[in-house]
Amino acid sequence: MLLRYNAQVSSLQIIYASTSGHTEYVVGVLTEVLKGALQVATCNAEAATPEDLLKGDNLILACGTWNTDGPEGQLNPHMKDLLVGRAKDIDLAGKQVAIIALGDDRYYYTCRSGEHMRRFVLDHGGKILGDALLVVNEPYGQEERVKKWAEALHQKLAIRN
Ligand SMILES: Cc1cc2nc3c(=O)[nH]c(=O)nc-3n(C[C@H](O)[C@H](O)[C@H](O)COP(=O)(O)O)c2cc1C
Repeated sequence: MLLRYNAQVSSLQIIYASTSGHTEYVVGVLTEVLKGALQVATCNAEAATPEDLLKGDNLILACGTWNTDGPEGQLNPHMKDLLVGRAKDIDLAGKQVAIIALGDDRYYYTCRSGEHMRRFVLDHGGKILGDALLVVNEPYGQEERVKKWAEALHQKLAIRN
């Protein structure tokens, strides 16, 4: 389903990290749904600057959960380099941020990257927009959930703008 364009809702920045392509796939499904309704820009965390977090009216952070630096339940390494490294001093100044976290139910800390992103947003003056989208195991076959989440997100943005 393509959402209708709403002139009052303008732009959405999506910053994502994806090592085996799962998050990239989810972002692709999401973008297809939202692009008729919003101006959507995507940016890879690997290349993102701290300023990229401030672009757009609203932001989505998306990545899988990894054993970055040893223990399980961590951010994808590229997202960690951005959020904990380059952007560690950023002020999100009230920006509304939605979160997409991927993971695998073979791990105890399933989708825990979402909690790290949530903490980053709150610790840097941002606001959490809606419920996080948690995608457990391969995203292929989970497109309908992603689309429903996208539609709910669009509704929230339409109400707030
Ligand atoms: C080395 C490694 C560590 C992982 N650690 C976790 C973990 O702690 N918790 C979890 O839910 N998933 C974990 N996963 C699963 C990934 O988060 C999952 O496959 C995700 O879909 C990958 O997304 P991506 O391809 O966009 O990076 C791990 C995967 C690998 C290969």
